[in-house]
Amino acid sequence: MQRLALLLLCTAALAARAELPERLSQTGLGGPGVRVFEPRFALWSDGATKRRWIALPPGTQVDAGQPDAWRFPVGTRLWKEFSVDGRPVETRHFRLAADGRWEMASYVWDGADALRAPARGQVLTLPGGRRYDVPSQADCMACHAGARSPVLGFAALQLGPAVPALMREGLLRNAPAAWAWQGPDFVAADPAEHAARGYLHGNCGHCHFDGGVPVPLRLALDVGRAPAPLEADQAAALLRRAGTRNPYQQMPPLGSRAVDAQGLALLAHHLNPENP
Ligand code: HEC
Ligand code: HEC
Repeated sequence: MQRLALLLLCTAALAARAELPERLSQTGLGGPGVRVFEPRFALWSDGATKRRWIALPPGTQVDAGQPDAWRFPVGTRLWKEFSVDGRPVETRHFRLAADGRWEMASYVWDGADALRAPARGQVLTLPGGRRYDVPSQADCMACHAGARSPVLGFAALQLGPAVPALMREGLLRNAPAAWAWQGPDFVAADPAEHAARGYLHGNCGHCHFDGGVPVPLRLALDVGRAPAPLEADQAAALLRRAGTRNPYQQMPPLGSRAVDAQGLALLAHHLNPENP
């Protein structure tokens, strides 16, 4: 009994020691080997502007052997910065620990540096009185931890046409050889379908995939495949739930307080082509 308690204490201490640094300036952002990337189908974040970076440990590669679930080397770090009205508000950060756990935290900007937010999240009041939610670690997990890969934006379908350059730089291993010339994509009938299904993949696919949330609606896409067709009632439900911020109905269920009017118009146009 006592030994178990001691063991638990030790694990707690280890977990605490492995915690991400307190200040963003200590995470290596802006240092050597940090590169910018941009997903094609960004998550709507209530109009915030976002920038993203990745750093792989020197000499390591991303394993693209499973095209839809890339595996990252220990020590990989990623960042995503959110700005509102031209000012940075928070920067979210991942680091892949030696034990295979992704450490996740958000840093809230205060002057020239940003400080790690509490694990329970934080509500900020921005200049002008606007309320801004920094998600809790449980919320980070809800979107990132269950998905095929916890990294959602640095992924085959999200990088698409940017993949050949990554191949040439030698950053990927086990990737299909054809990606050196043509980036990975999914099958779509026309550009409107490509845009709408890409939007659903980027905004909904991290929960709505086989083995994800227990509803039949599957919105995640696969490299080289056509999307699962949507039944008329599914399409109607999807438009209704993406178009509300009633907290019991809204989709996505977290991370947004404002409907993405442009995204919704794109979906409506594709799902009811007779709409203008
Ligand atoms: C509502 C779902 C959702 C929540 C909640 C969420 N994220 Fe994300 N995050 C995403 C999606 C989707 C992307 C990729 C698309 C994009 O960047 O626009 C992403 C991208 C990122 C990236 C860039 C690396 C990547 O996966 O492409 C980091 C770092 C990140 N999130 C950290 C966090 C942290 C830390 C938290 C919690 C404080 C968090 N996220 C909460 C959905 C979410
Ligand atoms: C953080 C995870 C998450 C994200 C992201 C997410 N959903 Fe969901 N969705 C759920 C859960 C959980 C349910 C089941 C509970 C419910 O109906 O509220 C659900 C249910 C639904 C349903 C009802 C399906 C049915 O068969 O009853 C629709 C429609 C839906 N989501 C659409 C979307 C759309 C569209 C998006 C993207 C704009 C999205 N969801 C993003 C978690 C998510």
